[in-house]
Amino acid sequence: MDKLVIEGGRPLHGTVPVSGAKNAALPILIATLLAPGEHVIDNVPELVDVSSTLSLLGRIGCPSLVGANPGEDGALAGHRLRLDTQRIAFSEAPYDIVRKMRASVLALGPLLARCGHARISLPGGCAIGVRPIDQHLKGLEALGCRFELVGGYVNGRVDRLVGAEIFLDMPTVTGTENILMAAVLAEGVSVIHNAAREPEIVDLAHFLRGMGARISGEGTSTLTVDGVPALRPSRRPHPILPDRIEAGTYMVAAAITGGDLFVAGARGEDMGAVVESLRKAGAEVTVQADGIRVRRTGPLHPVNIETRPHPGFPTDMQAQWMALMTRSTGRAEITETIFENRFMHAAELMRLGARIQIDGNKAVVEGSERLVGAAVMATDLRASASLVLCGLAAQGLTEVLRLYHLDRGYDRLVEKLRSVGALVGRFGDNAQVRPGMINQGRAQEAG
Ligand code: EPU
Repeated sequence: MDKLVIEGGRPLHGTVPVSGAKNAALPILIATLLAPGEHVIDNVPELVDVSSTLSLLGRIGCPSLVGANPGEDGALAGHRLRLDTQRIAFSEAPYDIVRKMRASVLALGPLLARCGHARISLPGGCAIGVRPIDQHLKGLEALGCRFELVGGYVNGRVDRLVGAEIFLDMPTVTGTENILMAAVLAEGVSVIHNAAREPEIVDLAHFLRGMGARISGEGTSTLTVDGVPALRPSRRPHPILPDRIEAGTYMVAAAITGGDLFVAGARGEDMGAVVESLRKAGAEVTVQADGIRVRRTGPLHPVNIETRPHPGFPTDMQAQWMALMTRSTGRAEITETIFENRFMHAAELMRLGARIQIDGNKAVVEGSERLVGAAVMATDLRASASLVLCGLAAQGLTEVLRLYHLDRGYDRLVEKLRSVGALVGRFGDNAQVRPGMINQGRAQEAG
């Protein structure tokens, strides 16, 4: 297994491109199940979670082909993907795939809509919380599906999907997506109240509409779907929207290192809360049509944040914000309201010299001048990103172990960081790395 080694203390400068959004790519790839035929999707990020989704689709009987985006020859061009969903052989998401990637649960709605039955392994909890799927099931039941839980699997059946009014208890992101993907093929009108408003849901709605679905209200908390009898693959390739969490991570990288980065492709309209918080913290943030520039020359001010569903401050940026606040000139409070156990990174950040106290769902960070590199352990995707950010700002070497979490969600991280001046590389877990050796590290996973 690989570890990431960073020699910190260097401000990052230059342009870093944003890849396609993981959390839009996963539902969109799975949504292709709804329309038999060949689908073409562009700007697909190169991530382990995308490979897991393609393995899932392969098991279901839908092969895929990955190629470079035509007309783009830069090494960082996104990928074009062709998916053939003509035939569905198995309407199942097995445990060995779901345990690696809980978003596999998104296959439930499309498989029920296409085949009338589906068998999906229950995802169980994960490093950030219990994460039940009761709202997914409740919404699908309202559309006529019946479920039983047997041997760790949800077995679902439906004779006829019929439109319904659904009231979600909380604006769950994948829950909204699952219900939306079934409702597009239901008979009659469905209304999803208290729907999630994340930009990834808007992108999914655009993709579904390209296949002939009738949807309105995406981006608001009321989604209305007028079901159609069948969908067909879109004639035009669908480009996945830029990843706002990846973009936000690089924006924080500029601020934490006292650098100046242009995050190419970042969309200001998707990132209001992060942009505003960075400005309050003293960074100069310029939102342009083609990206966002972040520069910091002065001190970092402490800024409290509280995670909220979109358009609030995203829980997927909470760990990175905590990393940033470890370098502020005062005391910042971070409140996590979405997941019950999403502070696992705090103890690891403290190994780098951060001063953090956790009390329930609140973390208090006392900024300190100095962070010193150490070996730290990644616990989940965004926690890993926070460790990398502190590593970039710390003196000396930081080793981030369990790198596979980062490979799930950050496309070509080492390559991108190196291109803006970071000293960072991948090494085997047992490698003895000393200062000055970082450039010998690999950019990609071995083999
Ligand atoms: N919840 C329930 N019941 C449900 C569904 C959700 O109680 O049926 C609770 C969850 O336990 C959680 C809250 O509702 O406390 C919100 O969870 P949500 O369902 O919105 O999360 P998700 O759909 O499982 C997606 C992203 C996560 C991101 C969250 C919140 C994907 C594939 N995943 O998860 O992304 O943190 O929304 O924005 O879209 C990541 O990328 O690192 C990541 C974890």
